[in-house]
Amino acid sequence: MKAEACTYVIYGATGNLSRIKLIPALYHLDVENLLPEGSKIVALGRREWDQQKWQSEVRDMLEEKARGGIDKTIFKRFCKRMHYHKGDISQQESYVALANTLTNSQKFPQNQAFYLAISPSDFANTIKLLSKSDLLKEDAGWRRVVIEKPFGYDLQSAQSLQKSIAKYLREDQVYRIDHYLGKGTVQNLLVFRFANTMMEPLWNRHYIEYIQITHSEELGIGTRAQYYDNSGAMRDMLQSHLLQLLTLVTMEPPASMEAESLRNEKVKVLKSIRPIPKEAVHACAFRAQYSSGNIDNERVKAYLQEDNVPENSFTETYAAIKLYIDNWRWKDVPIYMRTGKRMAKAQSIISICFRQPPLQFFRDTHINAPRPNWLLLGIQPEECFRVEMTVKEPGLEMKTRVTSLDASYRQEGDHHTDAYEDLLLDVIEGDSSLFLRSDEVEYAWKIVDPVIQQWAQEREFIETYPAGTWGPVASRAIFDKGSHHWRHCLTPEPE
Ligand code: BG6
Repeated sequence: MKAEACTYVIYGATGNLSRIKLIPALYHLDVENLLPEGSKIVALGRREWDQQKWQSEVRDMLEEKARGGIDKTIFKRFCKRMHYHKGDISQQESYVALANTLTNSQKFPQNQAFYLAISPSDFANTIKLLSKSDLLKEDAGWRRVVIEKPFGYDLQSAQSLQKSIAKYLREDQVYRIDHYLGKGTVQNLLVFRFANTMMEPLWNRHYIEYIQITHSEELGIGTRAQYYDNSGAMRDMLQSHLLQLLTLVTMEPPASMEAESLRNEKVKVLKSIRPIPKEAVHACAFRAQYSSGNIDNERVKAYLQEDNVPENSFTETYAAIKLYIDNWRWKDVPIYMRTGKRMAKAQSIISICFRQPPLQFFRDTHINAPRPNWLLLGIQPEECFRVEMTVKEPGLEMKTRVTSLDASYRQEGDHHTDAYEDLLLDVIEGDSSLFLRSDEVEYAWKIVDPVIQQWAQEREFIETYPAGTWGPVASRAIFDKGSHHWRHCLTPEPE
């Protein structure tokens, strides 16, 4: 799709997200000649910087992030697109000044995207002030607003945020980001499911025993205590990224790949998830917090010792949940999801465990109980699609082992792109398929709301796990059967 030139206005341009993701992503789009000719990037920040200082800041951001180093010619072109605008997001005058700059100078294209890389508590007011300063008027070109996660803190706050932004923006102008949808491996999941017929007949309750989604990190919360302690793992990862992965794994084939068809199917999944009643929270969800431990042979602090974490915090750094999708395809197939900071390994994987064969033919031989087939989808860092099968070991004895069919995603020479590149480009192109619709966000909150409400009331005790481990063994309590277990690796599990 050939997009028209636009002005990308970044609110919070000097902040962390902009430094490590947005500016590098825009630069890489420029390298690939994907930014439409004449496009501009307006960086909005509170600091008293001139254009030169901003350019040197951008250089610093790219020093670390530019793939293959900074290309001098492209950097020069990129700087020409840049414009620093000093402004305070709480002051109407700064919006008026921005509106004057953007309308009075011919150099800024009138298609404008506003990227809100700011504190979530400022989303509603910023949109209101953008509108009051006529920055959202579509007289001369389109206006789109990109909103970072989290969209709300729970169902009620998400609904009230939606209500306030709907006064100023149509739904098709709002781009709610979940950066997981920009990841190549996540998009490959759609290709894997809908461009191949082989798996489709097996993709249901008749063949699948359970599904598991794991996102584990070795990192702790770093300097993000202020945000994280009010959020916790359930809100930070599970309600957003992991539920999105779940929808892609389990949704019905959409009528087309157009945004509404795709999002309708995802919403259908979220709507079909069996609500967790208050009394069942302990049977379906588990939380814990990291204590001190070792990561890469180095001693790391407990969560409670991290800077700016209150000493009596009950915030979970590990969350696990069991869900069921009450539809024809998935009825009674448990879906286990877990995420944690300071775990044994940094990885995101989807593991699908198939049912055992209906008859155990090899029961009276040396063959141990055959192991179920697993389909393993490595999202990151290892990117792979693998099906584990049981085969006979060569030799005279009837012994078996596990081998895998590999449909790996990456080939030598393929280059890496970051999720934000894809998503920033989609905004320019007006493609909202990889962004969340308002009802999608609300249904996702509805699923986790009973759990976070219950946890908020239980303030006497939280399980802990030593940093550098896979989380508490007690999290097994959510499994339906003794044979279910957490799958940690993409290679065949030891017997
Ligand atoms: C963010 C969360 O949305 O996603 C972080 O706020 C988390 O806590 C991050 O670390 C994980 O993203 P990725 O792309 O590094 O897996």
